[in-house]
Amino acid sequence: MPKQNINIILLCAGKSSRMGLNVPKVILKINGKSILSRTLETIQKVNPNKIIIVVGYKKEMVINEAMKLGYKNLHFVTQNNQNGTGNAVKIASKKISTNSTSIVLNGDTPFISDEIINNSLKTFIRNSADLLLATSSLDDPTDYGRIIRQKNKIIKIIEEKNCSKEEKKINEVNCGLYIFKSKNLITKIKTLKKNIKKEYYLTDMVEIYSNDRKKIVSYNVIDKERFLNINNTEELYKAHEIDRKYFYYECLKKDITLTDPSTIHISPSVKLSKNIKVGSNVIIEGQSSIESNVEIVGNVYIKDSVIKSNSIIKPFVNIINSKIGTNSQIGPFTNLRPSTVLKSNTKIGNFVEIKKSTIGDNSKVPHLSYIGDTEMGSNVNVGAGSITCNYDGFEKHKTVIKDNVFLGSDTKLVAPIIIGKESTTGAGTVLSKDLPDGSLGITRVKEKHLPNWKRKPKKK
Ligand code: UD1
Ligand code: CA
Repeated sequence: MPKQNINIILLCAGKSSRMGLNVPKVILKINGKSILSRTLETIQKVNPNKIIIVVGYKKEMVINEAMKLGYKNLHFVTQNNQNGTGNAVKIASKKISTNSTSIVLNGDTPFISDEIINNSLKTFIRNSADLLLATSSLDDPTDYGRIIRQKNKIIKIIEEKNCSKEEKKINEVNCGLYIFKSKNLITKIKTLKKNIKKEYYLTDMVEIYSNDRKKIVSYNVIDKERFLNINNTEELYKAHEIDRKYFYYECLKKDITLTDPSTIHISPSVKLSKNIKVGSNVIIEGQSSIESNVEIVGNVYIKDSVIKSNSIIKPFVNIINSKIGTNSQIGPFTNLRPSTVLKSNTKIGNFVEIKKSTIGDNSKVPHLSYIGDTEMGSNVNVGAGSITCNYDGFEKHKTVIKDNVFLGSDTKLVAPIIIGKESTTGAGTVLSKDLPDGSLGITRVKEKHLPNWKRKPKKK
């Protein structure tokens, strides 16, 4: 197929009155991603020269949402009075390049695929058509415009509210995707008249084309979910479920096992590699990325974080704005607060909180610790109950623990402090001065044993 000059008109000006929410429906989110960003991402895959977005009702909200994606080929036109899809296209037609092919798409159809658009375009070109409509046959065609054929040729579209009892029985519906030769569209849209409802329906263009003996063809869309249009809250809810299903299918293709999909929420912004296991009750949000062979056992919250390959995140773990190196083990019951960086082969265990700290390769903080504002080298072992005392009541101070340090259980390091490499602390030690390399730091009082010592008897 020779490269086409494609202009896409996306209709987003409507009042969305059936939603009853006082916002343009195209900015509503489905599992964290707006209807508008979904359609825009899809239509970019078709490589259009221009995307003309018709805005109107609360247009700033729509423009802001569209601009977030940073695309360079977006143009906006304003429809001041929302008096129909035909009027919206008429306004957009002023920006269309005459020598292009125009694809008109309703903005409220989030799951339309690039495959459907490309196949429609191929059908349009192959048939040298003047107008293509994406249509589908539905068991329940309620609310859709019905396709009226005569001797198999499409002659018009009648909207649900204008259908006779007989016409309502027609199963073939208008999916909301149209292809025109731009030159024709620019002239013919001017001839579109108001209907009895005092609105300009884009669908009435079909009768105009048919009367002009223009060639009208259809592309049959089989999967009805792909052209689900969101008119009310019930359809929005349905869209969440469809999206979750699509996400599940995508995961299967990438060898990602979701044990209990209904309890897992992974935002569309999250990057997932291959071969990952995710158990129940897991939320992953923001700019997070999970690399291959990671296992997230369950009951885990991850936001804006990177989990490198072959790591395991055990139950009841909270990870915010942190980086977890390869082959690491986290949890159960670990709280990794912002700016935590764990290098490779680290082990962070139960009831451990880490904040704004780097933990070097092969280092372990296995039990009951708080590590804050710390730079820890490699091969460090932090004994159970050890804590960095980083706050003096006024300011936060830094702790440096160098390579191969062994902190005995219940060590307290009063920051600012540097623990030299290869050093050791005795259990229960409280250090407030720097410990030189290769030393033992111990502050324990000398142990005394008093023989034959009895506790005072309890008062009766
Ligand atoms: C429309 C079609 C119907 C089709 C259905 C498929 C018309 C008259 N009817 O009906 O045949 O089966 O889509 O999804 O086109 N909009 C504007 N300006 C307006 C009015 C609407 O930009 O003045 C935008 C809306 O924001 C929306 C899109 O056009 O994104 C479609 O409008 P909507 O009111 O949802 O049309 P439907 O009644 O669903
Ligand atoms: Ca609609």
